[in-house]
Amino acid sequence: MTNLHGKRIVLGITGGIAAYKSAAIASRLVQSGAMVDVVLTESAQKFITPLTFQSLTHRRVFTDIFDIPPAENIPHIELSHQIDLLLIAPATANTIAKMAHGQADNLLTAIALATDKPILIAPAMETDMWEHPATRRNIATLTEWGVAQVGPAAGRLASGRMGRGRMAEPDEIVDAARQVLAKNGDMVGMRVVVTAGGTREPIDPVRYITNRSGGKMGHALAEVARDRGAQVTLVTTAGLPAPSGVSVVRVNTAAEMADAVLTAIPESDALVMAAAVADYRPAEIAPQKIKKGDGGLTLSLVRTPDILQLVAKYRAETGFPRKVVGFAAETTDVRRNAQEKLARKRLDWIAANDVSRTDAGFGVETNQVTLFGADGSVVELPLMSKTAVAAEIWNRVAGK
Ligand code: CTP
Repeated sequence: MTNLHGKRIVLGITGGIAAYKSAAIASRLVQSGAMVDVVLTESAQKFITPLTFQSLTHRRVFTDIFDIPPAENIPHIELSHQIDLLLIAPATANTIAKMAHGQADNLLTAIALATDKPILIAPAMETDMWEHPATRRNIATLTEWGVAQVGPAAGRLASGRMGRGRMAEPDEIVDAARQVLAKNGDMVGMRVVVTAGGTREPIDPVRYITNRSGGKMGHALAEVARDRGAQVTLVTTAGLPAPSGVSVVRVNTAAEMADAVLTAIPESDALVMAAAVADYRPAEIAPQKIKKGDGGLTLSLVRTPDILQLVAKYRAETGFPRKVVGFAAETTDVRRNAQEKLARKRLDWIAANDVSRTDAGFGVETNQVTLFGADGSVVELPLMSKTAVAAEIWNRVAGK
């Protein structure tokens, strides 16, 4: 579940060929649980029909400022105040110009002028129009007023020419919408650090010791915190894509993760250690690939730093991170082991999961965790998506 869930969004569509991609945007927003009211300008309807959007959103589509059904309020006043976001995609040079001059000659520009809610535009036009001083000035004006912008990208344009002016892709636009909504999230002003994935401890230049953690839980924690407005540092070993807007530190070993965490935690509000940190590493890393012999091979292992113990020490001296959450992946005695780690690592919360289950823990999208608090509280969560688990953890950290 993202921060689009339950949000009310006006998707404004203006007259450019990229309007066909707006159907994908509407579809993704609806699938994410947003309530989407589509407003099409007259020129947009030359490219795509209201019926397309009515079918996708299951809601009436607005086209005309004077089309007011009896017993309803004036749409632009009604819509402009009830929404969480006005998203205009594609936004043509003409609509951008009108917005920058406070014109309100159709329903969409009227909403843009009347609303006090965040506005995000996805410009789309020929390069010459994008680069024209008039457009440059209009964009600068909108930016100064706080209008957010995604794209345009460089690439093939409607004219067949190459250049900047292509509308950003629907996924990128939806992601940008999430980032704009995050500015009103309940974690605005918070600085958080999240770790993710299993560390890799090298044996020789081609081999390493690792574990089954894929990093999904940590990446979900980072994404949810970002969506709620936090400033996020994600220290990860996973090759998963990093959520945009998150500051990512890629590491391999426990020692590198320890360094990255200690660098990131000063002045931080929270650290959530979702990474599966190796407890041992090979005592020596062979400089060349180890060749096989006739007999067996014994690796000598030594302890890695316990990152949470280092954090506890730093926290005792400085008070940061303000909150610390650990994970306990267990296969037996989940409750007893988790509570012991909570105390030993001086955590505020520990999220314990039984990784012997096939539907929870490593490699899957779902997780079933029990949260143990330093105050003695025990919250047994049902099997849910990792995103939903992340939301529960942040609720505790943010004191919700
Ligand atoms: N952890 C850590 N540094 C380590 C090992 C673990 O910071 N070297 C963190 C993990 O990120 C997790 C918590 O400690 O948040 C518990 O990890 P776990 O491996 O379950 O605990 P260990 O202390 O290693 O105990 P054991 O492996 O013996 O069960």
